Amino acid sequence: MHRGLTESLAELLDLDAAVLGSYLGEATLWASALAAAPPRTVVDLGAGTGVGAFALAARFPSADVVALDRTATMLRRIEDTARGTASSDRVRTLEADVDVAWPALGPVDLVWSSSALHEVADPGRVLDDVRTALRPGGLVVILESAGPARFAFGPAAGLEPAFAARLRDAERTLRGDAEVDWGLPLAEVGLPLVDRRTFTATARPGSPGVGRYVRLYLERIRSGLQERLGAPDLATLDALLAARGADAPLSSGDVTIRTTRTAWAARRP
Ligand SMILES: C[S@@+](CC[C@H](N)C(=O)[O-])C[C@H]1O[C@@H](n2cnc3c(N)ncnc32)[C@H](O)[C@@H]1O
Repeated sequence: MHRGLTESLAELLDLDAAVLGSYLGEATLWASALAAAPPRTVVDLGAGTGVGAFALAARFPSADVVALDRTATMLRRIEDTARGTASSDRVRTLEADVDVAWPALGPVDLVWSSSALHEVADPGRVLDDVRTALRPGGLVVILESAGPARFAFGPAAGLEPAFAARLRDAERTLRGDAEVDWGLPLAEVGLPLVDRRTFTATARPGSPGVGRYVRLYLERIRSGLQERLGAPDLATLDALLAARGADAPLSSGDVTIRTTRTAWAARRP
């Protein structure tokens, strides 16, 4: 991935955790209730900037957490964040591309993968490797966004109320078949589902980082919307992104954000 794109993704991932990260506490608590015993070895597969890895280290105080990613820049960020934090000695990074091979890690008690599995080339093969890596009774937890984020702009933005809905519909076509029900692929490799949940998070207007989050999010999808959004809506979107003054909607943060994630948990028999 282009360096600038990786950096903007990294900023967006950190902001996502800061602004909409309530799901991390809820989902790790849910995973802890499903785990047969407190996990000793946890892998965060496709860890990005490590928001999941740190949440897992906090939830499981006796676990060593391996933050695995193929992107070195992401892993350097995790190492920078870890320095000086209480869990720094329990979160280690591992550069590996699971499309190439599952790394030699030894037996694992919990594999967590958030917003990453839809990116791998052959998820069935990767899940098969996950099953082999898990100890009997070990748990795999997959999280993915359940559709695009919802934005509700304040009245000062002067946007037509249906604009945000059309934006979301267009983004849905951009995602295509990226939204998979992971229950079946898990069962197919011998990892029967034990539970499925949805976690919704809301960021209120004016909370720190809200406007910046929406800007980075919309900038990332802008080129993909070129052929999917009508010319008037594209012009509205571009004007929204171009406005930089203190009163501009994305500067003042007068927008509500709502995201929903689906989580699947499966256990190795
Ligand atoms: C959208 S980010 C999600 C990061 C993080 N899990 C989170 O929820 O914030 C997806 C991450 O998966 C990683 N990834 C994608 N395919 C991978 C592969 N084949 N092997 C290892 N990492 C991969 C990417 O480098 C990226 O950091």
